[in-house]
Amino acid sequence: MLSQLTSEHYLSQRIFDLERDRIFRRLWLFAGFRTSIAEPGAFLTRTMAGLPVLLQNCDGDIRAFENLCPHRQMPLQQQPFGQARMVCPYHGWVFDHDGKVKSIPHEDTLYAYTPAEREALCLKRYAVEIVGNMVFVNLAPSPMAIGSQFTDDFLSLLAEASGHFAALSVHVDIPVRYNWKLNYENVLDANHIPYIHPKSFQPLLRDRERRTAQEEKPNRVPRDEPAAPAGVHSTASGLLAQSLLQSAPMRIDPWPWHDAVQRYGSQDCFYTFSIFPNVNFISPGGLTFIAQQFEPLAPGLTQLRMTLTIAKEKRRVPGLPALLRTYLKGEASVLNEDIAYLEALQARLYLGAPRAQHGQYEHRLQSAAQAYLDLLGQESAA
Ligand code: FES
Ligand SMILES: [Fe+2]
Repeated sequence: MLSQLTSEHYLSQRIFDLERDRIFRRLWLFAGFRTSIAEPGAFLTRTMAGLPVLLQNCDGDIRAFENLCPHRQMPLQQQPFGQARMVCPYHGWVFDHDGKVKSIPHEDTLYAYTPAEREALCLKRYAVEIVGNMVFVNLAPSPMAIGSQFTDDFLSLLAEASGHFAALSVHVDIPVRYNWKLNYENVLDANHIPYIHPKSFQPLLRDRERRTAQEEKPNRVPRDEPAAPAGVHSTASGLLAQSLLQSAPMRIDPWPWHDAVQRYGSQDCFYTFSIFPNVNFISPGGLTFIAQQFEPLAPGLTQLRMTLTIAKEKRRVPGLPALLRTYLKGEASVLNEDIAYLEALQARLYLGAPRAQHGQYEHRLQSAAQAYLDLLGQESAA
């Protein structure tokens, strides 16, 4: 079956602009781990759908603002992660937790704003939803309900899994030269694993045939079944069907630190949460957790954002920062295997190139493409 997407969807600035407006500035987007900004005053900054976003812990409440001072557009917080009050570094304006200007140095002598002008000075705020330890932001002026994007079952599973996060996490941004959709499609396609990762990832998957068979037959999971049994969880359709949890048997080599943490689930499984539109959240064995996000920067440019943590500690894990860095390095080396091929794919793509020929096993790519086109308001290619 021919893919519903044409090469234009991976190359054109026009489509990229449409995606930004109709998908990324409309849907709920994963923004970061709550545990990364758990302390009062802690913040993280990032770009989302081309907008500078600040997530700030305001006395325990996570709030999202546009990271742009209303005076002369200086980013209020300059670092990717940190802990600081909301004070603009350019001319010292101070903001309160609602984003309103609390004080302006030498306000009367230098600025003399009218009361109406003064009243209008505030940071733009965005809607936030916290799911376990995952923070979601919606950039729309009137955000849709998060339940219109993710099923209640999926949100509960995500809350439960991310509730197992340790306090400490590590993060890396990797700029890659391909369209964000290539990476999202790649993570929906387990059939690439033996070819692209024959030595790194493939040997850890116990039973690929069984996994593929399960992927072919989505099954209903009764509500009283324990969280995260093996298989595919989704009974929804359309947009709601895109975000789901899958699990596959995995070989877990025991390490001493495994006994020191409260793992998620009880099985030696590789858990994969697909979070539409652009996150692959995985957990090998419920012991480590990795969020991979494919943030579009340009039609052929993506920021691959990766945040990694382990399950929360029952007792202290010695050398945890070094352990996290080692796992992050390991994950990045597997990702680099994907990146090399996806960059090669994008580099040779041209307008008018033939469309992909999907086989039956690629039904999730087809379904994701349909949901994507529905959001874009476009007909599929004939
Ligand atoms: S730009 Fe922020 S205080 Fe001037
Ligand atoms: Fe891969």
